[in-house]
Amino acid sequence: MQEFSQSPTDPPFVQNPYPFYEKARAAGDFIWWTEYDMACAVSHKMVHAVLRDRRMGRECPPELAPDIPAHLAPFYNVEAHSMLELEPPRHTRLRALVLRAFTSRTIAALAPDIRALCHALIDAFPAEPFDLLTYYAQPVPVVIISRLLGVPEDRADDLVRWSNAMVAMYQARRTPQIEADAIAATDDFVTFMRGYIAQRRKTPTNDLISTLIAAEEHGEKLTEDELITTCILLLNAGHEATMHTLGNGTKTLLEHGVTDITEAAVEEVIRFDPPLHMFTRWVYEDVTLGAHQFKRGDQIACLLAAANRDSLAYENPAQFNPARKGPQNTSFGGGIHFCVGAPLARLELQIALEVLFERCPDLRLVETPQYGDVYHFHGLERLLVTKGV
Ligand code: HEM
Repeated sequence: MQEFSQSPTDPPFVQNPYPFYEKARAAGDFIWWTEYDMACAVSHKMVHAVLRDRRMGRECPPELAPDIPAHLAPFYNVEAHSMLELEPPRHTRLRALVLRAFTSRTIAALAPDIRALCHALIDAFPAEPFDLLTYYAQPVPVVIISRLLGVPEDRADDLVRWSNAMVAMYQARRTPQIEADAIAATDDFVTFMRGYIAQRRKTPTNDLISTLIAAEEHGEKLTEDELITTCILLLNAGHEATMHTLGNGTKTLLEHGVTDITEAAVEEVIRFDPPLHMFTRWVYEDVTLGAHQFKRGDQIACLLAAANRDSLAYENPAQFNPARKGPQNTSFGGGIHFCVGAPLARLELQIALEVLFERCPDLRLVETPQYGDVYHFHGLERLLVTKGV
């Protein structure tokens, strides 16, 4: 396996990781990424295969479970119940409960609400240049996921703050301050959710939290800790990735002068510049993948954004083509961990982009947008735009 050295905190790489992916793909299905000390699947075919291979998964083999330092325990105690970090049978049970409350009918019924929210946010756009992330890309998913879960919208700022602090734990450059902030945010988030669940137990409504509580009480063994983690996961996963897809997508559409938001255009936005580039899998038994052998305890990273730019899967992959037909992109993962929120994210993106370009046909970039200086979330720092005339 060819070795590649690339610092994940190198600013030019973080701004544009695609040239690195191109070099990596030229080396075959896998590369060895020195800084992560890990094999990475980089071709569309191999990323697709690894995500679906049940001989691998997200849960760490018990004999390799790291000792968690006491000061980080609150964070990892929450993670311990996250479906994203579990495999069957626990994963199946938690995911099934969420899917029961997250039906395609529930999601489709949100469309008028999403549309009205988008219009209200656009009504409040200032005349002078403004950050579209703050005014639009962030509030759309935050408000919608809060409403779906039944969490009061006036807590949205807290949720964003807690969520940002918690997901910072996944970055390559973790500092004691990042850890301390994440622990404080976890404590606040858990306390808030515990209180909120107690309230919903007394007065259930038709929100997702009440549905999950009802499932718990009908003996399907969703413990209170699982319930709390599931809500935190949905709130965290539910807004950050969508916000950055909306930000990156608006930038791409503006740069290419595309304002016709078809279903294919939305899918191309999701393929072209997704926010989450790397997800790992543990290997559970000895396997051969292509020309490479792996053994239990190895880890494999799937470089989702590299797979999306594979010329064996897509014609002219580096070109943004809103009419593209082609294989399903890998931005939402695949296999049993395929993003639970994909139908919601797609609906939000479709409506938010449609309404934005319908209402603001003269929307313009005011500066060249810069990506945030982190690899774990490939998203813009800000997206300064003007409504035009
Ligand atoms: C464009 C926006 C989004 C992107 C790009 C995205 C991406 C992903 C990816 C790549 C995974 C799979 C990780 C893996 O295989 O290891 C995933 C899982 C997940 N996503 Fe999303 N996501 C988005 C929006 C959402 C939304 C809106 C929600 C919730 C409302 C959500 C909830 C989840 C959950 C709960 C999982 C874990 C599923 C499991 O482990 O079975 N995501 N997402």
